[in-house]
Amino acid sequence: MNLLTPETGEGGTLVRPIDRSDYPRLFELDRAVYPTASPVTEDVVDQWYRRNREFGMIFPGEAPGSISGLFIVIPLSQEGWDNLITGKLTEAQMKDDMIFDPQRDTALGLHNYHIENLTGQQGFYKKALPALGNIVNALEPQVNLLGFSAYAVTNAGIRLHEKQFNMHEQGFFSKEYVIGDGEDLRVAELEPDEAGSIENKGVRVLRCKMLITTPGEKSIVWDYLKHK
Ligand SMILES: CC(C)(COP(=O)(O)OP(=O)(O)OC[C@H]1O[C@@H](n2cnc3c(N)ncnc32)[C@H](O)[C@@H]1OP(=O)(O)O)[C@@H](O)C(=O)NCCC(=O)NCCS
Repeated sequence: MNLLTPETGEGGTLVRPIDRSDYPRLFELDRAVYPTASPVTEDVVDQWYRRNREFGMIFPGEAPGSISGLFIVIPLSQEGWDNLITGKLTEAQMKDDMIFDPQRDTALGLHNYHIENLTGQQGFYKKALPALGNIVNALEPQVNLLGFSAYAVTNAGIRLHEKQFNMHEQGFFSKEYVIGDGEDLRVAELEPDEAGSIENKGVRVLRCKMLITTPGEKSIVWDYLKHK
């Protein structure tokens, strides 16, 4: 009897921790939307998941070996969270003491490095957020959540985090833009007038946004992350 449902995927697993064999796919998907000159490397992702690999969430698809979605969250210490959300350091610089250590830290910052829905159906976030909630709730001892952030670099990402999750830029306004369309993308820091003149030539420009919500703010995120 096949007990699998569309929600569970291969082997009945709803979500599994990322492993090294997932890295090429993750980098390919991330590069397709954000081809930064200083990308995250395998060594950096290894650092993120040295202790709490479960925060790199891979959603298996129904076909063996397939993936229906990714929700790659970096578990951050207070120092990492503060440096990232203020733009002092980038995702690629999140390592060592910037990463949450359950033996040392009582506070945890959650940063969404990449979310991708490969199901072809809307509503992936309704699976992704509960999965993150389960992971946070399973942490022993309990932690004080600092907030949830995402560096949104696509229209879909901005819509999801701003409109659905009610997240906002809070103090740090990135000057980084994704310029172009489809496969012809580049990333550059621009002044607003430079962005305007590129746009006037008919080229798409999208300013990247560090979007944040903190506990106590109104956001669907906190319906799922009720810890402490
Ligand atoms: C970002 C992404 C993961 C969101 O997928 P998702 O969680 O399935 O989100 P949905 O497509 O259901 O969209 C969320 C909501 O916006 C609505 N929406 C979708 N497209 C819309 C549009 N063009 N205009 C207005 N609303 C729209 C949906 O109806 C949904 O609302 P609901 O929950 O009330 O039904 C997905 O778009 C994706 O994989 N994009 C490619 C990778 C990417 O850009 N990642 C983000 C990088 S920052």
